[in-house]
Amino acid sequence: MTLALKEISKTYGTVEAVKKLNLTIQEGELLVLVGPSGCGKTTILRMLAGIVPPDGGRIFFQQQDMTRWPPENRPTVTVFQDYALFPHMNVYQNIAYGLKVRGMNKGAIQQKIEGFMKMMQIEDMKERNINALSGGQKQRVALARAMVVDPDILLFDEPLSSLDAKLRVEMREEIRQIQQKTGITAVYVTHDQEEALAIADRVAVMNQGLMEQIGSPEEIYYQPASAFVADFIGYGNFVPATLQEAMDETVTLSCLGQTFQQHSSWLNFSDQAVEAGNGNVTLFFRPESMVPDPEGIFSGKVLQKSFLGASTRYLVECNQETPLKMDTLSVLHQLEPGDPFQFSLTGAMVF
Ligand SMILES: Nc1ncnc2c1ncn2[C@@H]1O[C@H](COP(=O)(O)OP(=O)(O)O)[C@@H](O)[C@H]1O
Ligand SMILES: [Mg+2]
Repeated sequence: MTLALKEISKTYGTVEAVKKLNLTIQEGELLVLVGPSGCGKTTILRMLAGIVPPDGGRIFFQQQDMTRWPPENRPTVTVFQDYALFPHMNVYQNIAYGLKVRGMNKGAIQQKIEGFMKMMQIEDMKERNINALSGGQKQRVALARAMVVDPDILLFDEPLSSLDAKLRVEMREEIRQIQQKTGITAVYVTHDQEEALAIADRVAVMNQGLMEQIGSPEEIYYQPASAFVADFIGYGNFVPATLQEAMDETVTLSCLGQTFQQHSSWLNFSDQAVEAGNGNVTLFFRPESMVPDPEGIFSGKVLQKSFLGASTRYLVECNQETPLKMDTLSVLHQLEPGDPFQFSLTGAMVF
């Protein structure tokens, strides 16, 4: 264990920003906190950094209680969305700052920084003024400045939010590579679920100060613990259904105008649904679980088509008010608005 939050709470006035959070971050792990704006992500990071004191609970670093440690004594360094670089210093001076205040001598600083500047591909920008850098370059400098002091834990608060889409993807891959190469422990906050899945060892999904689920990106995506997680992470379809019969081997269901039997492994029950038992339920399935199939029992009609390159997203009319979202590989299927087609479902969850 590197970091452990035990029953951590924070209230601002009447807003319960974080509610009795229990969370352990393993050494060398990149843990992503993801959730909609206002769910408490930044507050959690600030409590880890020591900028905001929790109202209740304790924070441990390697078994030591660090709840009341001042920020400068903590093993953490934060990388912010707005970079928080010193505008009156050049690139080199920005990166050197942390080492200088720690009393490292000039020669040692220089040696140390060269390596980081190379790794971050900013070695030819030493003398550059911060204001003369692009957003991506600033973020590289901010990352080098944070990592050069060898913190035990890196905290990221939406570090890529001000970058354009393509650069965001490139930078997140770089951050992940560097984190894995150095083995540094990191807590990474984002509201972008795709970014969360792409870089995390584990994802913690937050909702209104509570942790809804924690798990690997695959667990979160394929086995969402609640309808909130299913809806927030990725895309999906919620469909009213009736569970007619659930035997050991087979289930009988009615939905989308059809009654059909499936092997019981076709259906995954969430914790919520197990309690509900038989009867009226909500089925959830991902857009890629809908597969055009001439033998499929469901009949749909294409309402709209969005070509996304590798995949194509369709809105499909199928015996319910809300159109269904279907994703197919563009090389495999091309349907046009107005086309009727048959499809099957590879599986579903019950909420
Ligand atoms: N300094 C503060 N004073 C009052 N309310 C705050 C303060 N900081 C955060 N909040 C409130 O706490 C909640 C969580 O905020 P925050 O941790 O910033 O969420 P996130 O980073 O997930 O968007 C929000 O409702 C926000 O308005
Ligand atoms: Mg925030």
